[in-house]
Amino acid sequence: MSWLNERTRLRKALASVTGLTAGTVLALAGTAAPAAHAASSTLGAAAADSGRYFGTAVAAGRLGDSTYSTILDREFNMITPENEMKWDTTEPSRGNFNFGPGDQIVGHATAHGQRMRGHTLVWHSQLPAWVSGIRDANTLRTVMNNHITTVMNHYKGKIYAWDVVNEAFADGSTQHRSSVFQDVLGNGFIEEAFRTARAVDPSAKLCYNDYNIENWSDAKTQGVYTMVRDFKSRGVPIDCVGFQSHFGTGGPPSSFQTTLANFAALGVDVQITELDIAQASPTAYANTVQACMNVPRCTGITVWGIRDSDSWRSGENPLLFSGNGSKKPAYDAVLSTLGGGTGNSGGIVSGQVYSLSDVAAGRVLDVPSGQTANGTPLQDWDANGAAANQQWRANQNDDGSYTLTNVGSGRVLDEPGGQTGNGTRMELWDANGGANQHWRASRNGDGSYTLINVASGRALEIPGGQTANGAPVQIWDSSGGANQHWNFG
Ligand code: G3I
Repeated sequence: MSWLNERTRLRKALASVTGLTAGTVLALAGTAAPAAHAASSTLGAAAADSGRYFGTAVAAGRLGDSTYSTILDREFNMITPENEMKWDTTEPSRGNFNFGPGDQIVGHATAHGQRMRGHTLVWHSQLPAWVSGIRDANTLRTVMNNHITTVMNHYKGKIYAWDVVNEAFADGSTQHRSSVFQDVLGNGFIEEAFRTARAVDPSAKLCYNDYNIENWSDAKTQGVYTMVRDFKSRGVPIDCVGFQSHFGTGGPPSSFQTTLANFAALGVDVQITELDIAQASPTAYANTVQACMNVPRCTGITVWGIRDSDSWRSGENPLLFSGNGSKKPAYDAVLSTLGGGTGNSGGIVSGQVYSLSDVAAGRVLDVPSGQTANGTPLQDWDANGAAANQQWRANQNDDGSYTLTNVGSGRVLDEPGGQTGNGTRMELWDANGGANQHWRASRNGDGSYTLINVASGRALEIPGGQTANGAPVQIWDSSGGANQHWNFG
């Protein structure tokens, strides 16, 4: 049975049990607008509204900088130590453990109600020479397991998730990279590390973390996917996969959401763990965050530093705050994609009425004059004063998205139920709270918004090049084009 038929059937069933006419039921349903929700004004709070976290890498040496720590404690509710829990710091010589710098960060997190990601237990880099020089398998196995055990025991109960193994796959390949662990212990070292970690702290989530695994068709992505699938099928303990997401100027590959969803379908949480984007385009950041928001098991996002000046890529200005601590346009884009907003800096105000003007056409989202029925197809048309058929009330939903109710008809901007393909035309329908009537608004660099339907993950647009009156309003993969940019006026 199609979704449309199902809706008709439900309406008739409701009418028959209540004794009301179908028309009365429609009218009642039309008044059931979703509850308004005050937009959260920080990254951490906005992410928490959808059950996610928003974190940052922290350097212990910067905690005394009050600009830094003020932003940290205002915006972020998860912390990853940038270098302080790596092997060269925690066990610089065999059996000699140093937890001072890591403890400093954990102490800060505890005092400010932030959670911690542990980074990282087994990694070929920042590895002291005394480890990389070991050639005997029994010795290395003992050393690796003792390191995992001692570090995890020290932080037991204080770490939400550990990057147990970091960057074990070779660039451009489905195979593991060469490292002392791989070369001396063989392929099984990753499994052994995860089994050891589970035994030490069963309450910590255990993650595999890597870079360049965001594009679904890449060999490295497929290699990691095959490993996780194998681990899940054999009961090797793994709870999460971290996608570092160190992106170039264009941001994530178009398949990023598919990649996150495919890993999540294996039964692991997925997280964006080290996000930074060269030049920090707001659209690129919004697309990254949107990909996570569209995948229920994408449980959190961490950016790799606070201000551009704190970044390991500082020459590329890749973060959300400038060197003086001010918010960059990418910050607004991320906040609004998370469903937050300040409500006084040009954001969409819940409950307010707007006209939605397409940037490519300069025309507005229009219900053809005099047509108010369910199923009316929507179009673009010249703005006509404040005509009610071109006016839309934006109500924010609990998931941070918006429902857009046409003032003239009382019906909402609806993606036909179950029809999520590119080119599906949008219509009017009674509000029913469905994901197909929920639109996430991501702020673009030009001040406009990209509206992503929560059911399909596709963007509201007029077809490329069709800017005339009467152009259909449809959904398509988000492309960043002006035909997918809408000004709320
Ligand atoms: O603190 C010392 C300083 O005393 C010394 O004079 C100086 C000399 O080079 O080095 C300083 O340490 C540097 C450290 O960052 C702190 O700034 C190290 O050389 C430098 O290698 C280290 O770089 C870190 C890098 O990992 C090491 O591979 C970056 O901060 C850190 O952001 C980066 O993070 C990694 C993730 O852990 C894993 N994924 C990739 C990511 C980016 O490379």
